[in-house]
Amino acid sequence: MNTLAQTRPTPPRGPAEPVFTDEDFACIARIAQREFGLSLPSAKKDLVQSRLMRRLRALGCADFAAYCARVDGPDGAEERAELVSALTTNVTHFFREAHHFRLLEEICLTPHLPALRAGRRLRLWSAGCSAGPEPYSMAMTVLAALPDAPRLNLRILATDIDPAILDRARSATYGSDEIRAIPEPLRRAHLEPAGPGRHRIVAGTAGRVHFAALNLMADWPLRGPFDAIFCRNVAIYFDKPTQERLWQRLARLLRPGGLLCIGHSERLHGPATGLVTSAGITAYRRDDPAHPLGERTDR
Ligand SMILES: C[S@@+](CC[C@H](N)C(=O)[O-])C[C@H]1O[C@@H](n2cnc3c(N)ncnc32)[C@H](O)[C@@H]1O
Repeated sequence: MNTLAQTRPTPPRGPAEPVFTDEDFACIARIAQREFGLSLPSAKKDLVQSRLMRRLRALGCADFAAYCARVDGPDGAEERAELVSALTTNVTHFFREAHHFRLLEEICLTPHLPALRAGRRLRLWSAGCSAGPEPYSMAMTVLAALPDAPRLNLRILATDIDPAILDRARSATYGSDEIRAIPEPLRRAHLEPAGPGRHRIVAGTAGRVHFAALNLMADWPLRGPFDAIFCRNVAIYFDKPTQERLWQRLARLLRPGGLLCIGHSERLHGPATGLVTSAGITAYRRDDPAHPLGERTDR
């Protein structure tokens, strides 16, 4: 699940809590839509209130109107990052939807092994990477397929809007429960002990992933093309026009034949459908005009 998952219980409201008016909710919904493409239906009002109470307390805001003014003001950029962090969840895990990692191997690696060994560039992007398991799973998949590549030209970009979650991702350290989904041989190859019950991705693997803060709603200072983009469980609560713009922008950054994977409850729609062809469950390949029948080259 992505934003506003229903799994967190709404705590009972204390008597002294400020009132969250319909105008306050409308203000928050407008900022969330404008800045992050988040769609907040009125049914989420109580949930939004409980999520934001912590921010009001942290900032010492007397009421939600003061909070809205702060977050919407010229100095509100930092708090807007906190807002999106409060309104979204970071749920993720290693090798989530394992079939996407199999496709990464089948489409982007196996057919190109000789070229990749010889230094052909391989660019992957985890957009909305949360605490890092997704891009690190990509790194493990590539390194398992090319364990001894002498000139591996691999770069994995991992971006998220939430600076705090990016700090966690950069630490590359996880608890025993979190690493359970990593197959045993990959655990042996890519993890080292990091204190009781803690495990760190080894530097040679973690160093393949470059983390950066990026709001998917803003401009992207990125140059493609990418061989694969995973943007999973991020767009699910964006409104439809925002999703359509996002899918199109992502598809355009793929190299011909490149792979786009989206979340298990997301569906590609809009102009992007004219750029890609289904490659499996919630997976798509950028059409290759030079090889319309599906034959791909190793460019
Ligand atoms: C549920 S996690 C998904 C993590 C991973 N992609 C996966 O499927 O396991 C969603 C992530 O999207 C990020 N996110 C939400 N809105 C975003 C936006 N507008 N730009 C960039 N990241 C965003 C959140 O901070 C969160 O870390």
